[in-house]
Amino acid sequence: MFDPYEVRRDFPILSLMVNGKKLVYLDNAATSQRPVQVIEAIRNFYLKYNANIHRGMHALSQEASRLYEEAHDTVAGFIGAESTEETVFVRNTTEAISLVAYAWGLRNLEKGDEVVVTIMEHHSNLLPWFKVAELTGARVKVVDINDSGFLNYEALGEAITEKTKLIAVSHVSNVTGVVNDVGRIVRAARSVGAKVLLDGAQSVPHMPVNVRELSVDFLAFSGHKMLGPTGIGVLYASKDALEEMSSFIVGGGSVKAVHYDASTGKLRVEWLKSPWRFEAGTPNIAGGVGLAEAIRYLERLGLNNIWSHERMLVQYFFKRIKEEGLSGEINVAGPSSAERRGGIVSFTLGKMDPHATALLLGEDGIAVRSGFLCAQPLLERLGFSRGAVRASFYLYNTREEVDMLVNAVKRLTMRQFRGE
Ligand SMILES: Cc1ncc(COP(=O)(O)O)c(C=O)c1O
Repeated sequence: MFDPYEVRRDFPILSLMVNGKKLVYLDNAATSQRPVQVIEAIRNFYLKYNANIHRGMHALSQEASRLYEEAHDTVAGFIGAESTEETVFVRNTTEAISLVAYAWGLRNLEKGDEVVVTIMEHHSNLLPWFKVAELTGARVKVVDINDSGFLNYEALGEAITEKTKLIAVSHVSNVTGVVNDVGRIVRAARSVGAKVLLDGAQSVPHMPVNVRELSVDFLAFSGHKMLGPTGIGVLYASKDALEEMSSFIVGGGSVKAVHYDASTGKLRVEWLKSPWRFEAGTPNIAGGVGLAEAIRYLERLGLNNIWSHERMLVQYFFKRIKEEGLSGEINVAGPSSAERRGGIVSFTLGKMDPHATALLLGEDGIAVRSGFLCAQPLLERLGFSRGAVRASFYLYNTREEVDMLVNAVKRLTMRQFRGE
């Protein structure tokens, strides 16, 4: 039985008092908290194994290299990648997507080609494509949502043509929590031979994600949103996709040999194979070790259990809002049902400014995010011209915490009604 109260014992930070109130941490889509097991793995690495990797013959360097390589194996197993070669460690989702944009996009896109994205994208899956389009002459097409807040699959079908080279799409929206139908998107892409990049920042931490089952070419995600440390993220690139990528950030650690020919003034470079080819410079070794520990923790609990728990919480939230008669006071961004969505709800209360709402919720110890959530085009499309407040649930959140959020929302709407 999945028990969030038992899980919470591994997260001492959740027992903090904030402003004299018990902390209710509902900002998990921004970053999750870390369990003691992950903190201990990082501490242990620095206490017992710290050295640079792939550069030393001495015992510590060998041990650090082994741990860092094993972390890649753990990630590969977690997402169902065929081999370690396909899992490149980067800093975060943003860097993973930009790596595809530059290492794959600059080499494979040209004038006349098209990249298809959606209005649901986080800025990190929007800006790189416009930037690369500027550099290559390719065009970016942005697919709309329908009136219910789900992706408009008919519009997607129309946007995809023989010119489409890549579809870059989020798996789960960081604003509405909507889960996109990856199978349908991949089938549409394959019909014209286009590649698919899946932004898994809000899916990989919460539900089982298997790259072979989904059949995507690229998957990007961040360690810090899945109980791991900041500064470590992953780009999965399939073997076929890797063959189409050139190096982007280059230097030490990415090459087998470099020869300088003084007569021609040229370098002859033998690149290492992936992932090292794409991980030039000293990487975040302790971050990799911490991420592997986070994955072991998530796997012990079971991603299916975590997903069911979060879906139960969001369902409970909507039920409580209805019971309290708050449906008319709360404007939910996107669908206000628990269908085809994860544990993310963004909203505004009447005419209240989202930052002011978040500040007042903070006074009650409730940590939420507010503003444009790095997805301004989506919020503007949904009519949230001043942004929204976002509550995002994770494995350690409880129904009592949802009650505290709903009660605080109720108090705020009453205050507003009284004109305070
Ligand atoms: C859907 C989505 N994509 C990308 C990102 C960027 O993640 P990071 O800041 O870890 O690079 C986020 C983070 O909020 C996200 O929610």
